[in-house]
Amino acid sequence: MKHLRQLITVTMITTTILSACNNAAEKKDDTSAAASEKVSKADWGEADGKKVNLYTLTNKNGVQVKISNYGATVTSWVTPDRKGNKSSVVLGFDSLSGYLARPPYFGATIGRYGNRIAKGSFKIDTATYTLAKNNGENHLHGGNKGFDKVIWDATPATDSTASLTMSYLSKDGEEGYPGNLKVAVKFTLTDENELLIDYSAETDKTTVVNLTNHSYFNLTGDVSKTILDHTLQVNADKYTPVDKGLIPTGELKAVAGGPFDFLQPHKIGERIAAVDGGYDHNFVLTRETKELELVATLSDSVSGRSLEVYTVEPGLQFYSGNFLDGSFKTSSGTAINKYAALCLETQHFPDSPNQPAFPTTLLKPGEKYHTVTKYKVVVNK
Ligand code: GLA
Repeated sequence: MKHLRQLITVTMITTTILSACNNAAEKKDDTSAAASEKVSKADWGEADGKKVNLYTLTNKNGVQVKISNYGATVTSWVTPDRKGNKSSVVLGFDSLSGYLARPPYFGATIGRYGNRIAKGSFKIDTATYTLAKNNGENHLHGGNKGFDKVIWDATPATDSTASLTMSYLSKDGEEGYPGNLKVAVKFTLTDENELLIDYSAETDKTTVVNLTNHSYFNLTGDVSKTILDHTLQVNADKYTPVDKGLIPTGELKAVAGGPFDFLQPHKIGERIAAVDGGYDHNFVLTRETKELELVATLSDSVSGRSLEVYTVEPGLQFYSGNFLDGSFKTSSGTAINKYAALCLETQHFPDSPNQPAFPTTLLKPGEKYHTVTKYKVVVNK
């Protein structure tokens, strides 16, 4: 008992010291049942009249991932570089107010439908569903108040894993989507420096579902540097070309030889000028199996960090942070400019509800939606 109390105290002191570096507003919640060696919980304010918390997952190497139940959002992932210096490899804020200012989905869980649905409309059988046009004439990332802006229920693991499950009930008609959708997203930080994200959902009426995580990575840990010198490799021999509104034309186009060819590693900046507006495209993953598979690797030679992306999904949206324009600043005041970070969003293809040739995103009552993505940070010495 005494040993356990000491352990909890040590963990809480360590967590407090580390989090104090980047979050003065975070208050420890000592009474929390979540206060354990691997998962701790802090008060993080209120939104929609509900309590918001910030959870810290810690692994045996002292690597920490922070996740808020506001938007089931990953707010930081602090890992060492090759010299042992620690910094966060994802964009995020130290306090809730940063998120309430509606940044472009930093670290959030995206749903009910990640990516775009053309003209905010789709049909299931004979019924037409109308969604918000929150991206020009199209629907993006679940609408005006998608899963990234709602308060989730958080349940830390009761076993000894650094794991946390977020759950949310998206009611029938929310943002125009049919069916009560019960969603759970389980985040696990392993001792191998992997963040495993396991999504599941069930509905009581046929609906469409496409869940993803919108973390923005900059492996230097310093967003005043761009990601143009990062090297990317993606197992995709095709991508889905898009129209002006970033809706796929329906074609699956070979990447061979062009700026979308990342079969061999390339620096992101190398051919970005040849891509109108920068990279914001869905890559058709060349999968060997239906199991969790390594599909992309991002590397930064200066910090020595690499990020490996594993998924069971058929697609990967590579977004090079083209719309970041300095209007958001980090909590320490650094402007978040164009190309300051990039997203590798594992997903079904954009606009699938209107494109029958794409893998289906329909979920029917009695079926179980289940998908898994794993991000792994490797430090190359
Ligand atoms: C996604 C989209 C981008 C952009 C960002 C958020 O990744 O594909 O076009 O909307 O989200 O700014």
